[in-house]
Amino acid sequence: MNFSWIGFSKLCFLLSVTFCTLLLFLISQFHIPWRLRHYPPPVFNGNCERNCTLPQLQSIDSKLSSDSSDDIASFGDDKNPEKWRGYSLRTATSHFKFGNLHTNPSSPLEGVLKNTSVSSSGKEVLELEDIFIAVKTTRKYHKARLDLLIKTWISRAKQQTYIFTDWEDQELRKMAGVQVINTNCSSVHTRQALCCKMAVEYDKFIESAKKWFCHFDDDNYVNLSALHHLLAAFSHSQDVYLGRPSLDHPIEAADHVRSDGSTSVKFWFATGGAGFCISRGLALKMSPWASMGNFISTAERMRLPDDCTIGYIIEGLLEAKLLHTSLFHSHLENLQRLQSVLKQVTLSYGGPGNQHNVVNVGGIFSLQQDPTRFRSVHCLLYPDTAWCPVKKKL
Ligand SMILES: *[C@@H]1O[C@H](CO)[C@@H](O)[C@H](O)[C@H]1NC(C)=O
Ligand SMILES: *[C@@H]1O[C@H](CO)[C@@H](O)[C@H](O)[C@H]1NC(C)=O
Ligand SMILES: *[C@@H]1O[C@H](CO)[C@@H](O)[C@H](O)[C@H]1NC(C)=O
Repeated sequence: MNFSWIGFSKLCFLLSVTFCTLLLFLISQFHIPWRLRHYPPPVFNGNCERNCTLPQLQSIDSKLSSDSSDDIASFGDDKNPEKWRGYSLRTATSHFKFGNLHTNPSSPLEGVLKNTSVSSSGKEVLELEDIFIAVKTTRKYHKARLDLLIKTWISRAKQQTYIFTDWEDQELRKMAGVQVINTNCSSVHTRQALCCKMAVEYDKFIESAKKWFCHFDDDNYVNLSALHHLLAAFSHSQDVYLGRPSLDHPIEAADHVRSDGSTSVKFWFATGGAGFCISRGLALKMSPWASMGNFISTAERMRLPDDCTIGYIIEGLLEAKLLHTSLFHSHLENLQRLQSVLKQVTLSYGGPGNQHNVVNVGGIFSLQQDPTRFRSVHCLLYPDTAWCPVKKKL
C-alpha cells in the first residue's frame, strides 16, 4: 500500500514534468513563425541614381504629357479657390476631379482640400508671401540660366524666392542680395551634392515662418499666380505634397532606414525637375529624417537621389500621399505638345542636346532672341514689364 502510494506520486511528478515540457515546446512553436515573419524578397535598388532618375523618365514623362491635356481644366480670372475644384489631379490610387470629392469619401484629397466656405469668408487666406520658393542652381548656371529667371518670374517674387547655389558670386549677390544662399555644397552633379543642397533648402524653409515650401530648378519658369491659386486650395497645416511623378508607377527600394535593407518599400515621388511643394504641416513631420543634416544621412542610407528621398520620407515613412498634378513640367517631357501654356504652374526647356524642346508660344520674340521661350511667356503674363515690346493700344 505504502509502496504503491510512493509509486503513484512519482508517476504524477513525471506526468506533470512531461506536461510542462510539452507546454513549453508548444509555446516556442507558436513563437517561431511570429518571429521569423516572412518578408517579400528585397528588390535591391542600390543604384537608384541610375535607376530612378534618368533614362526611363524621358519615355514615361512624354507618355504622361501626351494624355495630360485632358487634365488641364480651363479656369477664369476669378480668384475664388472654388474654381480649382475643376482641376483634376492624378492620385496614386485613382483619377478623379475635385468636383467628385463629396461622392468619394475615400479620396485622399478630402482631408487636405480647404473648406472653401472658410477661405472665402477670409479666415485663412494665403498670400504669395506665405510661399517659400527655393530655386536650386549651381556655379555653372548663374549666367546661363539664373539671369533669365531673375529678369523674368523671380523679379515678381523677390521677397520670398531664395537661390541655393554652391559658389560665392558677387555679381549674383548684387542682383539678388541676401536671397542668395551659398550652401557650401560641392558643385559636382552627384547625388550627395544634390542632397546636400536639398538639406539646406529644408532647414532654411523651417527657419522661415512660411506656410509652403516649393522647390524649383534653374530651368523652370514659375507662373506665380498659378502657383498661388493652386496652393490656396489647400490648407498648409494638413499633409500636402504636390508634384509631378516622373514614373507611371511607384518606385521600390530596399529599406535601409527601418530595416537592414531586407525589406523593401514602394512609394511615389515628385520629380525635382518639374518642381514640387510641401505644406508646413507635413514639412514639420519630416523633421526627424530631414532636418539638421538628417536629410543627407537618410539619402545616404537609402542610396536615393534628393527628390526620391523626399518621396520616401513622405510616402514611405510618414504614409502621406503625393498628389499628382500635371500642371508642373520638366525638361524631360515633350514641351512642344503642351497645351494652355499660360495656365501651367511650371514650365521648362530642353537642355543643350534638345534645344527644340520648348513650349509653343506666339511670336513676341523670335526663337533666336528667346531660345527658351521664357521671355515670351513672361511678356504674355506681364506685358507691363519694362523690356517687353509695347503693345499697340487700339
Ligand atoms: C465648412 O465651413 C462651414 C462654415 O464655416 C461649416 O458650416 C461647415 O461645417 C464646414 N465643413 C467642414 C467639412 O468642415
Ligand atoms: C557657408 O560658409 C560661409 C562661410 O564660412 C558661411 O558664412 C555660411 O553660413 C555657410 N552657409 C551655410 C548654408 O551653412
Ligand atoms: C498665370 O499668370 C497670369 C498672370 O498673372 C494669370 O493671368 C494666369 O491666370 C495665371 N495662370 C494661372 C493658372 O493662374
